[in-house]
Amino acid sequence: MTVVGLGLCILFLLLSDAAATRQVKGELRRNLFANGIGLTPPMGWNSWNHFQCNIEEKLIRETADAMVSTGLAAVGYQYINLDDCWAELNRDSKGNLVPKSSTFPSGIKALADYVHSKGLKLGIYSDAGTQTCSKTMPGSLGHEEQDAKTFASWGIDYLKYDNCYNTGTSPKERYPVMSKALLNSGRLIYFSLCEWGQEDPATWAPKIGNSWRTTGDIVDNWESMTSRADENDKWASYAAPGGWNDPDMLEVGNGGMTIEEYRAHFSIWALSKAPLLIGCDIRAMDNITFSLLTNTDVIAVNQDKLGVQGKKVKKDGDLEVWAGPLSNNRKAVVLWNRSPSTATLTAYWSDIGLNPTNVVNAHDLWTHWTQSAVKEKLSAKIESHACKMYVLTLQ
Ligand code: GAL
Repeated sequence: MTVVGLGLCILFLLLSDAAATRQVKGELRRNLFANGIGLTPPMGWNSWNHFQCNIEEKLIRETADAMVSTGLAAVGYQYINLDDCWAELNRDSKGNLVPKSSTFPSGIKALADYVHSKGLKLGIYSDAGTQTCSKTMPGSLGHEEQDAKTFASWGIDYLKYDNCYNTGTSPKERYPVMSKALLNSGRLIYFSLCEWGQEDPATWAPKIGNSWRTTGDIVDNWESMTSRADENDKWASYAAPGGWNDPDMLEVGNGGMTIEEYRAHFSIWALSKAPLLIGCDIRAMDNITFSLLTNTDVIAVNQDKLGVQGKKVKKDGDLEVWAGPLSNNRKAVVLWNRSPSTATLTAYWSDIGLNPTNVVNAHDLWTHWTQSAVKEKLSAKIESHACKMYVLTLQ
């Protein structure tokens, strides 16, 4: 073969590989992370948003108990994830991470056994740097193999891997080391990258992890929640079964937003195929929080097997239409009034990828009422900061 022929051949292979990688419409992409898990976004709970560093084993056990007794587990929430502050500041003489004896006296293995006995999974947290963000425990940089083996030996199912106190090298160099270590650990561990979207992780993390934060930390208010949703939206085309964009954990139930704002937060996270990680105290949540978090129609959109991230498809000032395809030719649609007053929002079929002649049944996922034989457009009068969410099925 001539040099030109060889060059053309290589170019062809590169282009076809790029095309395969972009072919995300619900089929497993090539180049996805090799652990084969996370085929739908993870659902569970994480300690950080509500408790920050105030965690101890009794709280985690009680949270696992509440996950089951409230019915959250029955609708799909399964991970109980420890965030920062679970370990001693120093490693032991062999370089192992040590659970903090004042707060986790029984150790993490015993905690994992307890969580598993409830039919749930246990997640843990570390950092691709010398210390975690709280500065109260060591990071895993330079200890990746050892720490991954420790996590596997304890029965850990999920690792959130943060980015504080790194040595200034790119996350593209540091995160693959832990990814490989987890694959070699002998246990299937979901890998959640948390480099805050700094180096556009959607473009490189699908090969090494199951989800990647696209944003800085969420705060329990409208401004923070909406800006996280928008930043995450930019990366929609990179999400697929096995690898998800992560706009940070849920604040639903923490008290800083209105019910309608929390309903929109949950609806948009579900449509965006975001990890649904509850961030409130589920031992003491009120009925409204519970009913938002357990809307099985909304959860079904998030967990739909097609795995295509819905996105913002129309914006008229603060009046927005978000939509995405679901399995069996259905569409999920959110009409979201981000303006300060009540308004009428409309999604035309052309906005949401339907043919102008299509006739649909529109199921309202929050009122549970179905409008039949809808043509051309879907309209609704919606309060300030509230949303409506539908699944459209072709007639
Ligand atoms: C941040 C991270 C948060 C939380 C916190 C713990 O970097 O984004 O989600 O994990 O560290 O210190």
